[in-house]
Amino acid sequence: MAGRGLGRGLLIQQRFIKPKKTMNKKSFQAVRGMRDILPDDQRYWEKVRRIIGKVAETYDFARIDTPILENVDLFVKGTGAFTDIVEKEMFALRTKGGDKLVLRPEFTPSVIRAYLENGLSRLPHPVKLYSVGPIFRYERPQKGRYRQSEQASFETIGEKDPVLDAQLIQLFFSISGELGLKRLVTQINSVGCPQCRPNYKKALLVFFRKIKNELCSDCQRRLKQNPLRLLDCKNEKCAQLTEDAPQVIDSLCGECHNHFKSVLEYLDELEIPYILNSRLVRGLDYYTKTVFEIWPEEKDGRQIALAGGGRYDGLVKLLGGRETQAVGFAIGLDRMIALMKERKIKAPSKARASVFLVQLGDLGKKKSLSLFEKLQKAGIKTATSFNRDRMTTQLKIANKLGSRFALILGQKEALDETIIVRDMISGIQEVVPMAKIINVLKKKIKSKLVVKRLV
Ligand code: HAM
Repeated sequence: MAGRGLGRGLLIQQRFIKPKKTMNKKSFQAVRGMRDILPDDQRYWEKVRRIIGKVAETYDFARIDTPILENVDLFVKGTGAFTDIVEKEMFALRTKGGDKLVLRPEFTPSVIRAYLENGLSRLPHPVKLYSVGPIFRYERPQKGRYRQSEQASFETIGEKDPVLDAQLIQLFFSISGELGLKRLVTQINSVGCPQCRPNYKKALLVFFRKIKNELCSDCQRRLKQNPLRLLDCKNEKCAQLTEDAPQVIDSLCGECHNHFKSVLEYLDELEIPYILNSRLVRGLDYYTKTVFEIWPEEKDGRQIALAGGGRYDGLVKLLGGRETQAVGFAIGLDRMIALMKERKIKAPSKARASVFLVQLGDLGKKKSLSLFEKLQKAGIKTATSFNRDRMTTQLKIANKLGSRFALILGQKEALDETIIVRDMISGIQEVVPMAKIINVLKKKIKSKLVVKRLV
């Protein structure tokens, strides 16, 4: 029957539209671990994103935007099947067509995919790319740890020189410096390369096997998959038990050793403070040689890394490209902003509208629509309240907003092609021909600015 499919479709729709009785009073909340960024907070986000964009340009990074959804396999292969991100934290979904997709939990594999897929590998190297946007991790929500957060990720692809590792850390400090964030410290380590890491893993295994039964269940499992991860287990008992574990620095091959030494020398040259942290291994599988994190200096025990990254010389090849060294890092914007607020660093509030347009009566309202447009085009920041009709109410709003001038456009002014300009401080009003209003206002605003500066 022709109508059958349609009928069934409607039934399904009805089922969706009709709320269950028990749901009638339910008020909706944001998904656990996800937040609304309210208008008052936007100035922080705008400031941070603007400075990131500016510093990225100074350091010659080009912006790349990749889709939020990617194929699951990209992260299973890129980030690593046995990492926390892939094992526990992915927001995975299956499409109607059966594709397994995931809300990106980080940028790095996506950026490398895009670099390979779009022929960016044919550009002169290094190719320097940066991205800003949301990432999704199904973590236990707590202070500074969200299920949707925002990162700025920087990737330098196609260069093995250790100067670039140091330069990325310098780039972070350019951003944090412009944001007024001081008292931050870099923790740094080297995790070696495929040549020297197997020896280190062996040494770790020998050490861990002796204490295996006392380790937490996560560590016992990780022992088989990636013994390095035991070093950054957050469980206090595990941390104590592994205190005397062999240090990677003693197992580095000559090349990794020299690379690490050079990175530290460059940091010294740049006067960037750092702490050598032999337990820093990072939770992502692709890292080789340098790994680092940047932390606030406060030692209150609950702080969390503001940024983290390192070298990943094997990832491009792993994802199907040629052997290409790379290094990168990502900044957690939510945490940067939280720290700015904690340290009482201000972000500029929106510039006030210097003019408020008061409209009265039908004709006044109609004419003020086109005048509003003209004022915007002339670059005069104007506020209005088209849904209020009374003059006193509108003037009160103008006062509240701190507008310097009110323009009053009523029936009489609309017919005479004039407008009243009211100085909101002195209360003095003058009638100005509509044709001259832009010039008159510009002069008035300029002279008030000069007076303000002289005062
Ligand atoms: P990551 O250390 O996983 O590295 O994340 C970098 C930063 O993102 C963290 O230091 C933190 O500030 C922020 N972040 C991560 N997860 C959350 C969360 N759930 N809530 C709030 N902030 C969070 C990476 O993602 C690597 N892709 C970095 C990289 C780029 N390595 C090489 N290139």
